[in-house]
Parts: sequence; structure tokens; C-alpha cells
Amino acid sequence: MNELVVQNLVKQYEGRALLAQNRTKKRALAGVSFFLSPGLYGLLGPNGAGKSTLINIITGSMLPSKGKVLWNGKSITGLDKKYRAILGYMPQQQTLYDSFSGRRFLCYLAALKEIPPADTEREVLRVAELVHLTAELDKRLSAYSGGMKQRLLAAAALLGDPQLIIMDEPTAGLDPKERVRLRDTLAALATDRVVLVATHVVSDVESVAGEILLLKEGQLVDKASPAALVEKYAPGKDLEQVYLSIFGGEEA
Ligand SMILES: Nc1ncnc2c1ncn2[C@@H]1O[C@H](COP(=O)(O)OP(=O)(O)O)[C@@H](O)[C@H]1O
Ligand SMILES: [Mg+2]
Repeated sequence: MNELVVQNLVKQYEGRALLAQNRTKKRALAGVSFFLSPGLYGLLGPNGAGKSTLINIITGSMLPSKGKVLWNGKSITGLDKKYRAILGYMPQQQTLYDSFSGRRFLCYLAALKEIPPADTEREVLRVAELVHLTAELDKRLSAYSGGMKQRLLAAAALLGDPQLIIMDEPTAGLDPKERVRLRDTLAALATDRVVLVATHVVSDVESVAGEILLLKEGQLVDKASPAALVEKYAPGKDLEQVYLSIFGGEEA
């Protein structure tokens, strides 16, 4: 059935210094709930809105202070290894080993994902093709441009054909052509998978997202189709204007 449910997520970062200083420090997530069925979703909000925090919790990389994440009705903490198999995650920041070739990097991640060795070569080629990196696979990562590295990380997230694809600011560092291509690839995958893309760039998701989740200061302001959001917040205008009317002067 492929359904992700997020229930009342709260996250309060509690560094020791923070605790001593100020217990009312604002929460990074202040009770976020929604559900996603197959489709492409844009998680939109300015820097500091809580997008990465939300994604870290949904991907099981971080525990919430409160609340739950369910995949097909089961808590992801219980699913553990099974969840890893259906999840494709591209974090906002990731270190790459410069001495690796693109191919070696993808093979290494395929092994971590427990893709059978007999399938690895085919699977690596499949995901490289999706991001147009086939011709560069044997170059060392030290020779990759920022955009190529970013596309390699997107390819890595697609290894094993995950049913839940989550990408945190995937278009950072991509040129316009690469942006459009990644956008179209994700849109094609979203026909029968849940794809969630966090971004602060409206044009990344405006034309392809079935729904946009607007996140402001740790709270979900709205979740609706781009057309419905325009109708509600900026009639006769566009999603850029919706963004401005909701987030106003917040953007740095
Ligand atoms: N590891 C951390 N420790 C303390 N505060 C953090 C940490 N990570 C993020 N924050 C804070 O949580 C809030 C949300 O950050 P983040 O989830 O990274 O937002 P976004 O991805 O939308 O830019 C910000 O106020 C940020 O400073
Ligand atoms: Mg972020």
C-alpha cells in the first residue's frame, strides 16, 4: 500500500549548554502530523524551518522527542532493517571519499544496502543511467564537479529501487539542466512510490509536486496541491507568491 504516516513529531535539541541556559528554547519541530501515499511531495520552507530535522526523524537517523513515524501501519523503529531496504535517502550533507571512483562508491553503498553481489553491477548501471552519470563512473570523485557529486548521491539513494525516496535539498549545486533532469526523474519514480523532496527553492517542486508541505518554524502550515495553495494564499498568482506571503521576510 506504501503509506507513510507522521504522528505529532516534536523535536527539541537539548545540548547541555542549552539546558542550563534556557529550557524554553524553541523546538525544531513543534508537533508535525501528516500522511503520504504514492506521489511526489515538496517539503518547502526557509532555512531553519525544520526540514532536515523532520527528514532525519522520518529516515530513522534521529529520534524524535515525541511522536511516531509509521510505514504501512508499523512503527519504523520496529521495522529497522526492513525499513532500510525500502528507504532511499539522500542527506543534505554527506562526505565522499575522493580516491573512490563513482562506480566504487555506488558498489560500496550497494553492499551496505545488502544488494546481492550478482545484481550489483546491473543495479549500479541502472541508477547511474537515471542521473546521466554512466560515462563518468570510472572517474575518481576528486575529478567530479559539485553537480556530478550531487547526482552521484542522488543515484546512491535510488539503489535497490526503494519505495520511499527522501531527498534533502537534492538540487543544491546543480546547474539548471541538471535540476530539470533530476526533477523529471523523481516525478517519473513517484507514480508508484512515495517521494519527498525538501527544498527552499520553489521552482524545484512547483511544476512536479502533487502536494506541497509548507513548514514554518517547526510547524506544518499547510499540505495541499500547488494550485490549491495558490488559490488560498495568493489567488491569481503563483507558488512563489504563496511562499512569500507565508514566509515573508524570513528568508536570509
Ligand atoms: N544538531 C542540532 N543541535 C541544535 N540545534 C539544531 C541542530 N540541528 C538543527 N538545529 C536547529 O533546529 C532548527 C531547524 O533546523 P533544520 O532542521 O536544519 O532546518 P532546515 O533543514 O529547514 O534548514 C534550526 O533552528 C536549527 O538551528
Ligand atoms: Mg536542511
